[in-house]
Order: sequence, then structure tokens, then C-alpha cells
Amino acid sequence: MRVVVLTGAGISAESGVPTFRDADGLWEGHRVEDVATPQAFRRDPETVHRFYDARRAALASVEPNPAHEALAALERALGDDLLLVTQNIDDLHERGGSTDVLHMHGRLRSALCAACDARVGWDGPLLGAPPCAACGADALRPDVVWFGEVPLGMERIQRAVARCEVFCSIGTSGAVYPAAGFVQYAAAYGAHTVELNLVPSEGTAHFAEARHGPASRLVPAWVAEITTG
Ligand code: APR
Repeated sequence: MRVVVLTGAGISAESGVPTFRDADGLWEGHRVEDVATPQAFRRDPETVHRFYDARRAALASVEPNPAHEALAALERALGDDLLLVTQNIDDLHERGGSTDVLHMHGRLRSALCAACDARVGWDGPLLGAPPCAACGADALRPDVVWFGEVPLGMERIQRAVARCEVFCSIGTSGAVYPAAGFVQYAAAYGAHTVELNLVPSEGTAHFAEARHGPASRLVPAWVAEITTG
């Protein structure tokens, strides 16, 4: 069975990573325009670096939860028939055991050179970072997709969504496109669509099936169902 899973901040919430749009979410304490746009980075790179440096450092104190681990088990069961797409920039899917994760909004533990596009694994702060090792420019930025930028891996995602038999969206509010539109695309190509989220998302009406509750409970149960047929 070909399956596409899309995850959002809700899957990491029980691990202690804040979501964006819930009460106390990241967008309550920060303005998107100040920290998550290319314009913000041009205007005030220090503030943007501090925001992502703090989030990168916080990864050291969180652990994957049973929802991440269940999706790793799904990968072991389905192999290449699973595409796991995440909007998350944390590394909890990988630490939960998934080996092929498409981070469509980039990754915290990576730096991107704005001058030559080289990517390099990054664990410390980017504020005060040395020049790019590949081209020498003083242009390293967080390797994340900001508002107004194009998400990564869209061709691979579109191919897999069009071919899948099951599309499952987990822990995402359905507020941000293009990810919020995948469900309609999958349904148009004949997939069964499932939402697993704490509460009904903005797009809940587009799903054939919706289950509401914490990801740590819903995801292992759903994975057990589809792997045992
Ligand atoms: N289990 C399941 N779902 C949960 C849980 C939980 N324990 N806790 C919260 N949720 C749900 C919330 O109800 C909400 O619908 O997760 C969703 C999180 O929504 P957002 O905060 O909007 O996060 P996300 O959908 O991933 O945001 C998309 O927006 O700002 C950007 O680039 C950022 O990738 C992010 C994108």
C-alpha cells in the first residue's frame, strides 16, 4: 500500500516543542514578519539568528514520542511505499528512527549559504558563525523555508501524493499552503484521506476520516491498523 504522511508541529508538541498557532504557540510571542521572512533576515539578521539559535539549542532537551516512533515502524513496514513529509524543522522523526524524511520547510540542524547554496550540518549558534567553508562568503543563514519562499521537495511530494492510496495528515492546523492543499490533491487522485489531530483542523472537512486526540495515542493506533491490514 502506498502511503503519504504529512506531519506538523502537533506531532512534536508532546515532546515539548512549541507549536505555532496554539495558545502559547511561537506566533503568540513573535511576529512572523520579524523572524520568519527573507525581509526580516535582511533587515535584522541578529534577531532572526537568535530566534533559530534558541530553537536549535532547545532540541537538546527534547525526545521523540510514541507518534514519531510509530511512523518509524511504518517506514520499516512499508519501505519505499511510504513518503513521510514533515513541515517540522526539528529532528524528532530521525531520532524516532525514520531514515527518509522530507523536510519541506527545512531543518534547524542545517545551515544554508545564501551566496552559493551550499548546505552544511549545523549544531551550534549561527550568530557569529564563520564564513561559508565552500565559497568563503559571510552568508550562512538558517536552512529553513521562510514565508514567501518555495518549500523543498515539491516535485517528489506531488508525485507521491498523486500515486498514494492513503494520505494521512498529523498534527497540523491546515493554515499554511501548499501543505494544507495536499489533502484535496490526494482525494482528487482517489486516495483515502485521514486526519489525526488534537482538534479539527481548518481543513478537516476535506478529509474522508478524522480522528481527534493526542498524536501519541492516535498515531500508534492508526499505524497498527494499517500495518496489520
Ligand atoms: N497531538 C496532535 N495534534 C496536536 C497536538 C497533539 N498533542 N498538540 C497540538 N496539536 C495540533 C493543534 O491542534 C494544531 O491544529 O497541531 C496543530 C499545530 O498547528 P500549527 O501550530 O499551525 O503548526 P503547523 O500546522 O505545523 O504549522 C505549519 O506554519 O509557521 C509555519 O513554517 C511553520 O511549518 C510551520 C507551518
